[in-house]
Amino acid sequence: MRKHILYPVLAVIILVALCSIMIIGELSGYFLNPTRDFETEMTDDKLIVVGISQLGSESVWRTANTDSIQKALSRENGYFAIFSNARQKQENQIKAIRSFISQRVDYIVFSPVTEDGFESVLIEAKDAGIPVILMDRMANVSDDSLYVTHVGSDMKAEGIKAGTWLASELKKKNIADDPVNIVILKGTEGSSSEIGRSEGFHQIAADHPNWNILAEVDADFTTTKAKEEMGKLLREFRDIDVVVSQNDDMTFGAVEALRERGYTTGVNGEVMIISFDACHEALTMVYNGVINVDIECNPIQGEYVSEVIRKLERGETIDKEYFVDEEVFTKDNVINALNSRAY
Ligand code: AHR
Repeated sequence: MRKHILYPVLAVIILVALCSIMIIGELSGYFLNPTRDFETEMTDDKLIVVGISQLGSESVWRTANTDSIQKALSRENGYFAIFSNARQKQENQIKAIRSFISQRVDYIVFSPVTEDGFESVLIEAKDAGIPVILMDRMANVSDDSLYVTHVGSDMKAEGIKAGTWLASELKKKNIADDPVNIVILKGTEGSSSEIGRSEGFHQIAADHPNWNILAEVDADFTTTKAKEEMGKLLREFRDIDVVVSQNDDMTFGAVEALRERGYTTGVNGEVMIISFDACHEALTMVYNGVINVDIECNPIQGEYVSEVIRKLERGETIDKEYFVDEEVFTKDNVINALNSRAY
């Protein structure tokens, strides 16, 4: 009989002891590491709170860009960064920005997937008094006070470099006046990298009536889509001389599709390849003569963004545009970049 009374009493004692241990553990954990608390962390005066809306992770370049901004805006550097990956969807970017506004972050760093469609949410950020820094790509807005600055590449200049390289290469080969059949694999339609690179290349092509642009197709900056699109182009056109591929990831897909159909590419090949980005794998292909030229797009933009924020914190004036340094790589000059490139 006594046994029956003891069991429930013992159970209650054990339960109370366990609860006490958990509560004490929670409290001591809190006092030992108060930064675990999100609210406390965000309101820590010493940290600058930044919401980062990255557009996706579609390319090697993008991964390097994400890495660069996360390293620059680290806790050790005095930041509390809230990172959001939109997985290439505009609505996800808009949601992320709205959430940064409601969390009252100090700054928003934002890489717009396409140029159009962000005006309203940027007005909301401005009304909330949150400075927006555009990173990598631009946004098309009627009022440029909706962002404080843009840190990124001069995409049109990159397209011009591609066209200028092709013109001088054809001249070197003494075929500058021969008909040249070109196909263009474009990045995400409506993104500033696609718009700028297309505009720049077309500007040079306009001076060369013998350049026949057979087709321009959207391959969304991805290897899989580019391989598929290149396959279709090869079924449609028998005589392609030049492939302009607006990023390295698409170039990998295009080269695969060409090889599978028996074409050779690059310096001694049948099809010239012009690529953009200059990531390590593509530079290796430049070195091996598989890609003719790679127009660099520099993803290491985190330090520039951090510098802009520091200037704003000190009340200094900043420029409306900061372009990162970029080069053009061919077999002749690629070796140093290849040896030092981390992405
Ligand atoms: O906006 C920069 C472009 O976006 C890079 O060329 C490409 O690789 C990325 O996806």
